[in-house]
Amino acid sequence: MDYNSIRKQFLDYFESRGHKIVPSASLIPNDPTLLFTVAGMVPWKGILQGTEAAFAPRVADVQKCIRAGGKHNDLDEVGFDGRHHTFFEMLGNWSFGDYFKAGAIEMSWEMLTRVLGLDPDKIRVTTHISDDESTELWRKIAGKEAIRLGDKDNWWSAGDTGPCGPCTEMFYDFGDDIADEDNRWVEIWNDVFMQYDRDANGNLTPLPKQNVDTGGGLERWAAMLQGKRDNFDTDLFQNLIHATEDIVGVKKTTENFSSFKVIADHLRAVGFSIADGVIPSNTDRGYVIRRILRRAMRHGQILGHKGSLLSRLYPALITEMGAAYPELAREQSRVVEIIQNEENSFADMLQNGMKLLENELPKINNNVLPGDVAFKLFDTYGFPLDLTQMILRDRNIAVDVAGFEKSMAEQKERSRANTKGTRTLWESQGQLPATDDTSKYAPTRDMQSTVLAILRDGEFVTTAGAGDDVEIALDKTVFYGTQGGQVGDAGELMRDATAVMTVSEAARVDNIVIHKGRLNADISIGDVVTPVINDAMREQTTRAHTATHLLQAALQQVLNEDVAQRGSKVSPDSVRFDFSFGRAMTADEKQAVEDLVNKWIAANMPVDHAEMSLDAAHARGAMALFGEKYGDRVKVITAGDVSCELCGGTHVHHTGEIIKAKVNKEKSISSGIRRITMSVGTLAE
Ligand code: ALA
Repeated sequence: MDYNSIRKQFLDYFESRGHKIVPSASLIPNDPTLLFTVAGMVPWKGILQGTEAAFAPRVADVQKCIRAGGKHNDLDEVGFDGRHHTFFEMLGNWSFGDYFKAGAIEMSWEMLTRVLGLDPDKIRVTTHISDDESTELWRKIAGKEAIRLGDKDNWWSAGDTGPCGPCTEMFYDFGDDIADEDNRWVEIWNDVFMQYDRDANGNLTPLPKQNVDTGGGLERWAAMLQGKRDNFDTDLFQNLIHATEDIVGVKKTTENFSSFKVIADHLRAVGFSIADGVIPSNTDRGYVIRRILRRAMRHGQILGHKGSLLSRLYPALITEMGAAYPELAREQSRVVEIIQNEENSFADMLQNGMKLLENELPKINNNVLPGDVAFKLFDTYGFPLDLTQMILRDRNIAVDVAGFEKSMAEQKERSRANTKGTRTLWESQGQLPATDDTSKYAPTRDMQSTVLAILRDGEFVTTAGAGDDVEIALDKTVFYGTQGGQVGDAGELMRDATAVMTVSEAARVDNIVIHKGRLNADISIGDVVTPVINDAMREQTTRAHTATHLLQAALQQVLNEDVAQRGSKVSPDSVRFDFSFGRAMTADEKQAVEDLVNKWIAANMPVDHAEMSLDAAHARGAMALFGEKYGDRVKVITAGDVSCELCGGTHVHHTGEIIKAKVNKEKSISSGIRRITMSVGTLAE
């Protein structure tokens, strides 16, 4: 049974058991605690926690996942066995407060033995040591005696905090001639009983509802159903490996198989993540993808290949997976261009860095590469530390990681110029309630707000005085905190008709609005103040935001329909809009865009602000940015008949309020991404 048929069988079965089938969410999670979507439950975290309403009691899907950083990281295993991947597809069924242990176990068993026809004797199950109920259910439903294990094996969570619970895992016997038990009995499915929420201190609180979260690795299912012992011998991977053989001009052998595996795996991680909007960079998820891409190039080099590899293999990925994931073909030109640029910039560094490394190796002692050499490879030749480690692993040489970190810290110290970010400090204030944020609707001047937290000089304090630079959270506010590209409001916190604090900018960390600025008087936790925004700045930002939507619509009309937003900054004095497009705009095109935006402003079209479900928004044709989730309540901003977008920002009610728009510059900011800037209102005149 090939991949496409397995996906279909899985979804068909759960649909027949009353589940709503939904498409995969983005690999970029709407969750600051994770770099990537690491499991099928990530998009549903809010529903499991009870902070979002479930849009259906039973749901099933096939979710794109990447495990290559953070708590769930399989990067270093890839290529060394036949089971691990950075990118994989997770088959999942969910119950949001509907069925629980009995339903989940019964359906898993039916799927495996009746639908897929697997031999029950080849399946083993495990349960959590505390979970008598599941253990008894396995006896009753399947006649199986579960192996009972502890937290390490049978307790599951996506991150260190959030929803979690005991799980029951199913293992399949890949052959009694396999001596190593872990290779013989391979985990094929995990049913998690999401019952608890874990906070930053490790405390468990029962969730409002008892939920089920299951995950089965499609690649393992394919190996099982195709009688293969190595996932990379299944149809999809074999085809990618043949495509690689054609490009590198070398056939797969037992000796070089691991390089082919790494390349096929990394092609999927790099291709899918860039298609979802990740841009290779030096930070966060962009750096994970850059590292993966560079590792793939190194394996190309091992096979004797030079230069572009993944960019040339991308069409083969579309052939294999494009039907299930249409975004691959839709984003093809942009993805290929970005990969090509990455490959071009690293190709020479890889050759030269390898020369440096070969020169250094005869000099080393005790099979340890000194940290400063690893740092030089990193700093001058762009070798991520894990790439150097991977290269040396075959030769049994370790890297002095502490020495590497010391060199890195010394360099950071040298280049340290700016103030410390306070974001993580606020994130660690997990117990603060979400700010009741009315900023988007009605700026009033008489709100009575209570001070909940004060951050000064990197520490939370109960009181602070005049002259202190502080960050303050209130229980409710009229300030818009920077979000979705729109910069936050400035203004004042008032008490008895005097400004206690001048707020230079309101920021946002998760659901909390943070007022940043300087105190003019003492303030303590529990004080009541009135937040008042600078109306003129808010008005100008509001004009700029609606103008940004018109700008995007104009770019699509003038350039082409596929122009997609890649980032934006909407501030009182300008609009900065990044979009995917392969070349510079001509002067005529820029003029045409500006004229179109001004035509729509002059037409004074009504701008409708509505809140609805994501389904309803899609039905209206609202343009979706990457990142929002199925089942969300979303805000939809519709300007006349030219623009309809999901957006949580502030907007005018008639386009005429924008007054005027003027396009300033248009330039390239990275491969395939352009940046255009525009002024609005009186600043455009
Ligand atoms: N969330 C569970 C897992 O990823 C199903 O294993």
